[in-house]
Amino acid sequence: MQVILKTLGDCNIRRAEPSDLISIMEINLKTLPEHYSDYFYESLLAELPEAFIVAEIAGKHVGYIMCKTEFGFSNFKKLGFVKKGHVVSIAVLDEYRKKGIGNALVEESVNGVKLRKCDEFYLEVRCSNNEAVRLYEKFGFIIKQQLNAYYRDGEDAYLMAIELD
Ligand code: ACO
Ligand code: ZN
Repeated sequence: MQVILKTLGDCNIRRAEPSDLISIMEINLKTLPEHYSDYFYESLLAELPEAFIVAEIAGKHVGYIMCKTEFGFSNFKKLGFVKKGHVVSIAVLDEYRKKGIGNALVEESVNGVKLRKCDEFYLEVRCSNNEAVRLYEKFGFIIKQQLNAYYRDGEDAYLMAIELD
């Protein structure tokens, strides 16, 4: 059953289902240089469906966010071991950007990782990706580290994180 979380005009923001994955992989191929195996998409959807969200307009997939959970050292507390949500990937097709879809995807993924009782939420983003950095900052993500040559082409990443309540 489709779970519609939010509508933005004619855009439905809903949880992804297995039948959405091919279209989501196509969006990823068009928009980002980091790609993943079919199995990886399937496993993220199986493990954290609450934070695997798709944006759809009249049956066309236009954006997605997918996440996972991990246990590890806190990005905020010294010596703290916490449950963390991790944004693996988010993208909106170029022609559908700047309409609030990215914002809605992040918002719903935050709700999803809160449902799973994560203490923190984090991600890596290219230091040059101002659009994405601004989007995350709106939700209170702060830059916690700069990861040297994190990407295959040698670019650094910012590690950005928020504490959840
Ligand atoms: N009219 C005009 N502007 C608007 C409207 C509107 N109705 N709604 C939102 N905006 C503005 C926002 O205020 C924001 O502007 P600002 O950054 O100057 O404040 C801007 O549009 C973008 O916000 P959204 O519309 O919510 O986000 P968008 O749907 O454009 O998606 C995203 C942002 C996902 C980063 C997109 O640019 C993208 O897909 N980029 C390529 C892939 C990418 O870089 N992904 C992130 C990689 S990092 C990772 O995956 C962990
Ligand atoms: Zn990551």
